[in-house]
Amino acid sequence: MSSVLRIALQKSGRLSEDSYQLFKECGIRFDYGTGKLKSISSNFPAEFLFLRDDDIPGYVEDGVADLGIVGENVAVETNRQVNTIHKLGFSKCRLSIAILRGNDWSGIQDLEGKNIATSYPNLLGTYLASQGVTANIHEISGSVEIAPSIGLAEAVCDIVSSGSTLLSNGLKEVETIFRSEAILIARPELPAEKQTLVDKLLFRIKAVQVAKN
Ligand code: PRP
Ligand code: ZN
Ligand code: MG
Repeated sequence: MSSVLRIALQKSGRLSEDSYQLFKECGIRFDYGTGKLKSISSNFPAEFLFLRDDDIPGYVEDGVADLGIVGENVAVETNRQVNTIHKLGFSKCRLSIAILRGNDWSGIQDLEGKNIATSYPNLLGTYLASQGVTANIHEISGSVEIAPSIGLAEAVCDIVSSGSTLLSNGLKEVETIFRSEAILIARPELPAEKQTLVDKLLFRIKAVQVAKN
């Protein structure tokens, strides 16, 4: 029986287009952007699953997918047992704390006893603890940047890339707590025949990266 690698990619968002481009440059063809959540490559033994990025580490840990592409931010936050096998160098972003533009900022201790809205409670909690700051972390899964303007929190901690979401919500970035880029993750115990396919794929990915530099 010949094996097929199952690779989980983000359905739509910051990582999607670049992830697809990477496989395209590796010469691996599959249908993308058709609305289907699964696609089999026509020229490489791989099947692609299109999922929410936050769910990808869990699917890889469980072995539902053999490989996945996620941001380091999601990989660290979800804290699943997966192996980071390669850094991909795209979809760079940072996890930052932001407050209302009109407010003063003298340092992280300003957040003592305050409310912070975030989708990254673990990364934020670890950072605050390292700074000796105790704050109330309110976990929300999306549209975090709205929180200060509606009185839900004094600060937010969310992903910043171009900065346009902060700008259009009247916020300013005051502290960066984590820097991230896309990474390739693998499930812990890959069967030998799948490992051979991963090695093949990695060889191509590295060749593409070398050609770009
Ligand atoms: C992040 C974040 C902001 C946006 C910031 O979402 O939650 O909404 O990107 O980007 P900008 O600085 O370029 O405006 P993400 O792409 O991680 O999507 P998700 O929260 O839906 O997973
Ligand atoms: Zn997400
Ligand atoms: Mg978001």
